[in-house]
Amino acid sequence: MEKVIIDVDTGIDDALALIFAIKSGKLDIKGITTVAGNVPARTATLNTLKVLKLLKKEYIPVYEGMTNPLFRDIKFADGVHGLDGLGGTLKDVEVNYEEGIHGVDFIIDTIMKNKKDITIILLGPPTNMAFALKKAPEIAKYIKRIVIMGGAINGIGNETRTAEFNFYTDPESVRVVFESKVPIRMVGLDVTNNAVVYRKDLERFSKEKEVANFAINVLDYCINKCNELFEIENCSLHDPLAVATVIDSSIIKTKKYYVDIETNSELCDGMTVCDFNNILEMKPNVDVAVDGDYEKFLNYFIDIINK
Ligand code: BDR
Ligand code: CA
Repeated sequence: MEKVIIDVDTGIDDALALIFAIKSGKLDIKGITTVAGNVPARTATLNTLKVLKLLKKEYIPVYEGMTNPLFRDIKFADGVHGLDGLGGTLKDVEVNYEEGIHGVDFIIDTIMKNKKDITIILLGPPTNMAFALKKAPEIAKYIKRIVIMGGAINGIGNETRTAEFNFYTDPESVRVVFESKVPIRMVGLDVTNNAVVYRKDLERFSKEKEVANFAINVLDYCINKCNELFEIENCSLHDPLAVATVIDSSIIKTKKYYVDIETNSELCDGMTVCDFNNILEMKPNVDVAVDGDYEKFLNYFIDIINK
């Protein structure tokens, strides 16, 4: 089983990604780290603990990480996820976080104890990973791979016209990760925008099961919000798709490119910049997901949630 650390800014699709990862039984989850993104880091931590309680998997350790991007101020994503990140669906679940090891230190320690054996799955702004690489640069050569949800090489944005939310929130951290020489797979909006759930799909979840019922509630909330804000009839499973590619890489097709990120531009800040024509003659640094079997993914996702 692949040993992983999952790094989250637990909003709606992070919560579903965690449930999917855990219930799949296909990943050896060494720990979950949290970061500011969709919501403040502490809210992400509490939401993660609530999800683990719902799953009765409280033994999986959670470590809170960075509360702000590398250099910038944070702007949360409460539009789609709600102020509490989960559309109010778990507001009555009580959890308690006892501060212990910092998320960044947990990442460093776990990599050094499991050399070349840890996959890091980044589902929020990659601030924790960037700090870990800055604090202990030697870890780079011991990370098996990084799978990152974020960006888009096709120029599409969901936070600005040209930038995806996770990358826009902390572009300097994205650059640290891209320059790390760790094998990187990027699962961006190029593919995740196609991993969608429509309202009619909600009927496929088992209402009588608590966890599936949670999925119905958050997805219903998210579809309503996406309808209100973007006039679309579905919501995307960004983070679950990234996790799915770790479990079964045949779900996506990838291409290797040299990829960078814009960090200083009025129009294009946070934009993913891909050297399609190898103008710079640089060695590719990112394996980018460019297409996917979205039907296979959704079937698998629903099966696991219903399990
Ligand atoms: C990403 O941004 C967040 O709002 C989601 O959780 C996902 O990680 C999609 O752009
Ligand atoms: Ca996320």
